[in-house]
Amino acid sequence: MRKILLDCDPGLDDALALLLAHGDPEIELVAVTTVGGNVALPNTTRNALQLREYLGFTTVPVAAGAAVPLVRAAEDAAHVHGAEGLGNVVLPLPTLPASTQHAVDLIIGTLRSNPGQVHLVATGPLTNIALALQQEPRLPEWVASFVIMGGSFTRGNTTPAAEYNIFADPEAAAIVFDAGWQVVMVGLDLTLQAIATAPIVARMQNLGRLGEELVVPLSTFWNDVETAELTGQAVHDVCAVAYIARPGLFTSRPARVDIETTGTFTAGMTVVDFDSTSPNALVPVRLDVDGFWDYTLGAYAIAAEEIK
Ligand code: RIB
Ligand code: CA
Repeated sequence: MRKILLDCDPGLDDALALLLAHGDPEIELVAVTTVGGNVALPNTTRNALQLREYLGFTTVPVAAGAAVPLVRAAEDAAHVHGAEGLGNVVLPLPTLPASTQHAVDLIIGTLRSNPGQVHLVATGPLTNIALALQQEPRLPEWVASFVIMGGSFTRGNTTPAAEYNIFADPEAAAIVFDAGWQVVMVGLDLTLQAIATAPIVARMQNLGRLGEELVVPLSTFWNDVETAELTGQAVHDVCAVAYIARPGLFTSRPARVDIETTGTFTAGMTVVDFDSTSPNALVPVRLDVDGFWDYTLGAYAIAAEEIK
């Protein structure tokens, strides 16, 4: 059983990542924390609460965190995720409240009380993680591993140089990558291999009510790739959770990753040096795509049994 704390900004693919963490019987989702990102914090938090009740993980605490980046103005991605953050998915409003704890305190408390047991996964801007490190520098000693969806060693998706999660708060990312732990950086070069193409969507349509009400609409609201060979939405954040449960699906290389925080055109760029003799990151570069979808859709099918 792998314990995961997921810090996220739901978000189409964050929602699909939460579903994977809930559906895989070998994963125990121990806590969810939210951050402002794709949409504003009240919406990312409401989305997490709605998903918690819709999917039924109501004993898992959900705590809200930072509404804005450390120093920059917030820039959302509502044009990708829709104004409410879950595309055209409409879920019942939550009846259970968020935790009264701040996300940073829940992150620190969960890791401190389970040293070496909990995998910390971040799929939004890294503001909460940076704040937690500033409050508790021992955090890297307590994680089982630390995996993010973010960055790229080629092109960005928000600017030519920067991927959204890093672009949204480069100063936070710089703190996170310099904290002395190994960051598993699941970036765009990997996640753009995990595309919900038409054949994959056809398989999602076999997930009954869960497929119809959640998985298909979350996976078909936006196209990250539109080429003759490949068209569809990338399930970026799902890859970060899948890495914890099925690391064998990923081929990874060590690298030194530095974050550009001052560039006029390059702010938020992850500068990746695969030749460094002092790596601070592990960068997945190749995905076993068939194995990824077999695993992910298998876990979704388990979750679908509960949503009859
Ligand atoms: O660039 C993709 C990332 O930005 C994903 O985490 C998506 O949810 C958005 O937050
Ligand atoms: Ca996200």
